[in-house]
Amino acid sequence: MTASPAVPAPVPTAPGGLPLIGHAHHLVRSPLPFISSLRDHGSVVRIRLGPTPAYVVTDPVLTRTVLVTEAAHFAKGGKIFDVLRGVFGDGLATIGDGDTHLRNRRLMQPMFNKAHIATRRTAMIEQSRSMVGAWQKGQLRDVFADMNDVTLAAFLVALFGADLPAHLQREFTTLMPALMKGAIRQTVLPPWVTRLPLPANRAQARGIARLRVLMDQAIDHTPSAPDPAAAAGCPHQAAAGDEQAGLFETLKAAEDQFTREQLQDEAITLMNAAIETTATALAWTLYELTRHPEIEERLRAELAAVCAGRPLREEDLDRLPYARQVLQEGVRKYGPAWMVTRTATRDIELGGHRIPRGADVVWSPYLHQNDPAHFPDPAAFDPDRWADGRLPSTRDSFFAFGDGRRKCIGENFAWVEMQIILATLLETWPRLRLVSRPPRAETAITVKPDRLAMAFS
Ligand code: HEM
Repeated sequence: MTASPAVPAPVPTAPGGLPLIGHAHHLVRSPLPFISSLRDHGSVVRIRLGPTPAYVVTDPVLTRTVLVTEAAHFAKGGKIFDVLRGVFGDGLATIGDGDTHLRNRRLMQPMFNKAHIATRRTAMIEQSRSMVGAWQKGQLRDVFADMNDVTLAAFLVALFGADLPAHLQREFTTLMPALMKGAIRQTVLPPWVTRLPLPANRAQARGIARLRVLMDQAIDHTPSAPDPAAAAGCPHQAAAGDEQAGLFETLKAAEDQFTREQLQDEAITLMNAAIETTATALAWTLYELTRHPEIEERLRAELAAVCAGRPLREEDLDRLPYARQVLQEGVRKYGPAWMVTRTATRDIELGGHRIPRGADVVWSPYLHQNDPAHFPDPAAFDPDRWADGRLPSTRDSFFAFGDGRRKCIGENFAWVEMQIILATLLETWPRLRLVSRPPRAETAITVKPDRLAMAFS
């Protein structure tokens, strides 16, 4: 914690609150300008969501205090997590802090180490290439929907192996947004209403039951064995054969430590945490490429130099530093998360202010990553910010993946997946064109484009 005065100073309240609704109207109408404006009022700023106060941290040093050094007093929680738990169960992202979280995190960590992810890169490249290659030339595409589809498919092939029944991808694609919408509806209703036998509640319960059946099929899926004759004759074939086991096998191997329901919870939670975040970052990055042909050209030049006229291979991924910079800048500029909460477990001082026990504390990757003190001219899309030796201070204000014990477990996976999808898209389509008006940022869990139509040729 920062050095604090003997008597804590009152926390400044954001201007513009209204009697009953507090600052909720700002969060609904102009969430991103509102949250960014709080920086002008102090390092911790009080807002009201209806009658309930929340404390927004605007100084990245204090966010690190909340997430890392004083994390024991800022627990993961809040109503949104209670409701999400109803859909996704007690998975890694929704379960409260404590021994079970630590134990499960330890068991899941090997699934996402770099070497392990590397065993799935070829399968993800093939999956992504076949999907973007199936688009029709010049056809108008809804890029955010496409990025959701491709990231989901790459995630499924990485976690559960090749040849999953096609209906799984289809059903997950429709079921997950519907369940999320139902969960958001439940956060604003009193709990007793969500227990009534209303059609919407029954549909939500049916959806959750179906999600569990589908996830069981994915968990139990056995990828078809490699053809031994082909494998014997061809070293590449043998390598492809080795690839067949998905990352989730790690957890299945620890099945004695998890009930079947817990395995489902973890798989569903991972899928939910993995898709919209990655898809959003990719969609915004593609939009930025349509605005910056010089960046697109540099990316293509890097790819051409590394691949030398042949299709992308998994080992090429480590030799595409500029692609990584471009993606990092997409993730920086658009969050993609914009409001994440913690709950103060006791009265505690933060930056010289007293936060009362039980209060919601909000931190925002979007806010920090668009702070001109750390990222000069933050609205500019400038991948060179991330070039070697530039901006040494950025690490301290780049919170896209969180920090501390609840830091994103899928970060390594996300970078690999985003690089694969960006590179396969560029190698397949020499030209990207924006067809719709520039997208507006829309906030839900992530900062997503409201409409993004592009044509590829
Ligand atoms: C660009 C992509 C992604 C972004 C920006 C992102 C961001 C985040 C953030 C900010 C958190 C911390 C939330 C908190 O502190 O309350 C988090 C946690 C988490 N993420 Fe990600 N994520 C991404 C991709 C992924 C992927 C691909 C996976 C899985 C394959 C994943 C799985 C998780 C899980 C399980 C947690 C909870 C970790 C824990 O509480 O121990 N994420 N993510």
